[in-house]
Amino acid sequence: MTEAWWKHGVLYEIYTRSFGDANGDGVGDLDGITAHLDHVAWLGVDAIWLTPFYRSPMADFGYDVSDHTDVDPLFGDLGAFDRLITAAHERDLQVVVDYVPNHTSDRHPWFTDSRSSRNSARRDWFFWRDAGRDGGPPNNWISLFGGPAWEWDQETGQYYLHTFLREQPDLNWRNPAVRDAMFDVARFWLDRGVDGFRVDVAGAVMKDPELRDNPLNHGRPWRGMFGAEWEAQDHLHDFAHPDVHRVWRDFRSLVDGYDRRDGRDRVVIGEVPSHDLVQWAAYYGERLDGMHLPFGFHLLRHDWGSGTVGDVVERVEAALPAGAASSWVLGNHDQHRVATAAGPERARAAMMLLLTLRGAPTVYYGDELGMTNVDIPPDRIRDPWERNVPGQGRDAARTPMPWTDGPNGGFCPPGVAPWLPLGRPGLGIDVASQMKDSHSMLALTRRLIEVRRQEPVLRGGAYRALDDLPPGVIAFLREDGGRRVAVALNLGHEAADVPLPGGRVIVSTGLDRDDPVKGSVALAPYEGVVVRLV
Ligand code: GLC
Repeated sequence: MTEAWWKHGVLYEIYTRSFGDANGDGVGDLDGITAHLDHVAWLGVDAIWLTPFYRSPMADFGYDVSDHTDVDPLFGDLGAFDRLITAAHERDLQVVVDYVPNHTSDRHPWFTDSRSSRNSARRDWFFWRDAGRDGGPPNNWISLFGGPAWEWDQETGQYYLHTFLREQPDLNWRNPAVRDAMFDVARFWLDRGVDGFRVDVAGAVMKDPELRDNPLNHGRPWRGMFGAEWEAQDHLHDFAHPDVHRVWRDFRSLVDGYDRRDGRDRVVIGEVPSHDLVQWAAYYGERLDGMHLPFGFHLLRHDWGSGTVGDVVERVEAALPAGAASSWVLGNHDQHRVATAAGPERARAAMMLLLTLRGAPTVYYGDELGMTNVDIPPDRIRDPWERNVPGQGRDAARTPMPWTDGPNGGFCPPGVAPWLPLGRPGLGIDVASQMKDSHSMLALTRRLIEVRRQEPVLRGGAYRALDDLPPGVIAFLREDGGRRVAVALNLGHEAADVPLPGGRVIVSTGLDRDDPVKGSVALAPYEGVVVRLV
């Protein structure tokens, strides 16, 4: 039996609004993605994940769904989705779609019905509560996007809960009717042929049954991942309630049921909290019967110059349940671009790390070009989070994919204003320029993906850290039986000699080495190598 693709496969995240604009309105769409699938297939990845394309008023750019089983006209229609999935499957690309269980749009018919009266049959599908004793919100929960997590509804005289925007009311998953309706949504897309789901804020769907106040997070420093107000609390009661695991185990059996019927392998990937590794690992399920791949966000917001990247990898490796696949992520549509977070000089080494660690990595679109955050002029800010909590905005990492160095980067027709500005042209950060350059970041990314395929140890092999390394260097072995590959990355700004047994360089970050290694390998600042050991 061949192993499931998702265990070691490379996932490629496509921010639907920003990949390709086929209808010329400045916003990416499904046909635009289909038109660029050859690029994705050429890169060699195994699967694409599409951020939400469902009907939505776009208060949170599609994470506020008003109809889960239709495509928003901005992105196309169900026919366009069917064309996309057929074209992807023809190219051996699996298609993973976003599943947004925690909340709907405030315009979703479930919510308008729930809001219509205290006696609505769907009242309990969302969280409605009377005001607290002081007339204010019922508890101290904070919206991730700033301000209280409760919104007063004048008409029915109660508050409703929204973990995100007030336009994103939270669904009450303790109500079995909600669970059934949302499981039907998953069935709809599985029946349409999708190969899996990326589950949005999977940790939030089960709240404390009594909706108790969160304790204050005394003395812990603000990490800057979320707003200071949000991080000042311990999210004991609104996030990561242990009951979530029951939900994802049931969801997993729903998906597994499809696999059993047709022998295909589908995947459930989770956006889950990652700071507490025990809490994170619990998402795999006690018998690996939970999520296949809880995302590994452990290196996001990490200080790449601190010399501790290797320690983080070690800790995650130690926390990973036996038999589980890890799922490293270095950037996504909510985070700084990795070339900005790690520094552009480390972008290549970061890509090498991502693609040589154990498990199933996710590449964020454009990171294969070394895209950095793009400066967004104040009048072009789109992210509501930036408007609520300045500094937290995500637009900079969501800018359109540059296909050429021509007008609008070939993303949308010349003369059309793209929904977000593109990065500066002429710097070589576009697909066409990098296709012409055999040493480009694009060429490196493709080569690393190819090496993963050619070297089985890079997929299935064990991970073993090497120690006694010069400062700033991370090095490890991937090994299986007699086969061994070493990876050595210099994240520091000084040249370094890394002790390694004999072998030969099979890929270097500059795509300029194939030298033999005898006892040690010399690395320039920010250089990395993959070495096949003999
Ligand atoms: C997730 C998404 C983010 C969205 C939020 C609310 O964190 O990745 O983009 O704003 O959930 O759905």
